[in-house]
Formats: sequence, C-alpha cells, structure tokens
Amino acid sequence: MLQINLEKVKKLDFRSNEAYKSLRTNIQFCGKDVKEICFTSCMPNEGKSNVSFNLATSFAESGKKVIFVDADLRKSVIVGRYKPDHGVMGLTHYLSGQNEFEEVRYTSNIENLDVVFTGPVPPNPAELLGSECFIELLQRLRVEYDYVIIDTPPLGSVIDSAIVAEHCDGIVLVIEANAISYKFAQRVKKQLEKGNCKLLGAVLNKVEVNGKGYYGKYYGKYYGKYYGNYGQDDN
Ligand SMILES: Nc1ncnc2c1ncn2[C@@H]1O[C@H](COP(=O)(O)OP(=O)(O)OP(=O)(O)O)[C@@H](O)[C@H]1O
Ligand SMILES: [Mg+2]
Repeated sequence: MLQINLEKVKKLDFRSNEAYKSLRTNIQFCGKDVKEICFTSCMPNEGKSNVSFNLATSFAESGKKVIFVDADLRKSVIVGRYKPDHGVMGLTHYLSGQNEFEEVRYTSNIENLDVVFTGPVPPNPAELLGSECFIELLQRLRVEYDYVIIDTPPLGSVIDSAIVAEHCDGIVLVIEANAISYKFAQRVKKQLEKGNCKLLGAVLNKVEVNGKGYYGKYYGKYYGKYYGNYGQDDN
C-alpha cells in the first residue's frame, strides 16, 4: 500500500479528546454491524470533515483498523488541511476508471488509519457516488476494516450524502450549535429517512463551553447563505 505522512494533524486537547471517545463509544453501542458510517450536516461549514476525521483518528488510536474516505467530491478540504507530504491520487481517479484502488488508498503515519482522498472535482459527483463501482468499493472496505468513516457534503445543499448513506450502515448528522433551526434539522432528518439510511444520531458541534453551558438559540446567521452554491466557490 502507498504511504503518506499527514503533516498537520494536531493533537486534540483533553476535552475534545474525551468528546471523541464518547462519540466513538456511542457508535460502538450502535452494534457490531455498524461499521460504515457517513457524516453529513444541514449546511456547509458545520464541522463534518473535522468531526469525521477526528473520529477516524480516535477509532484508530483505540486499536481499530480504520479507513477515512473523503467523499466530498465537490469541495474537499482534507488534503489542504492535513497536508500529505506528497501529491496524492483520490477517489475520483478510481471511480472514473483512471486508477486502481490500490493507487488511491494510502496508509498514514497514524497507526491503524488508512485514507482515501477525493481527487479532482468531477462534473458528475452524485453519479459517481451512486455508481456500482462505489457500491462495490464499500462492500470491499466493510470486509477489510473495522470502521469506514465517510465524509460527505451537506445534505441541505446537495444530495450526495443520502446517496452514499444508502449503502452505509448509518449516518451521523453534525449540527453546529446556534446555527441551524430545529425545523431545518427536522427537514434534513426527514429527507434521510426517505432514503434507505439509518440516522444513528447527531453531533452538536462548535458548542461554546466557556459560558453558562449550551442553550440552543437560532440566530439564522448562515441560513440560506450557501444554499445551492455548494462546491461552486473555491474555499
Ligand atoms: N468543534 C469545533 N470547534 C471549533 N472549530 C471547528 C470545530 N469543528 C469545525 N471547526 C472549524 O469550522 C470550519 C469548518 O469545519 P469543517 O471543514 O470540518 O466543516 P464541514 O462541515 O466539513 O464544511 P463543508 O460543508 O464545507 O465540507 C473549519 O474552520 C474548522 O476548523
Ligand atoms: Mg467538509
């Protein structure tokens, strides 16, 4: 297998580390058949990539064999954020038939953690994620790993995560504290339930912990700001 060093993986502080341990434990309690888990959110920027990658690392640290699959084919930040020490091929190279899977799967400097990056943005992300090739890949990874953690785009913007989740064992909704209305979260939940995917639960992210604790209040600061433009800007 190809090797990379992720040069920018930060050590989590104590509190975050404990939070990921709880998330890990909660997922383990979902049952031993829950191995392939997809992460989505209502809106962009709620923290899916951060939460899913840290969770994958946390599982790997606990001795589980894990692969992190970056299936946000439209606007991935993983390569930019964690800085592999050399150029990488990605999922879109494989799904479009340009490379073998072994050419896009990397073993990392984090023990037990393998990674599949996204690759170049394709013109047809949803089709690639719904393809037989991707479905077969998920079946194969299920056999090879204890956990397959899949990062996807926000469901409030594009359909990709529901397509991926249909072939996973469950989906987790990452919700940014104070940014998403109850109604919007319910709408996304209903959309997930329409498909054949099991909502495992939600992660409340970016909670202000220094104040008086968390009391959800909707400010609406992001509502509608990015809707429909997901992946069309360059950040
Ligand atoms: N728990 C957290 N505390 C503080 N900042 C966070 C937290 N989680 C994520 N962030 C920050 O929020 C921003 C968005 O995070 P991230 O890229 O993980 O979100 P995303 O939901 O994957 O976004 P996108 O929809 O664009 O894929 C980043 O700058 C990240 O560092
Ligand atoms: Mg992301």
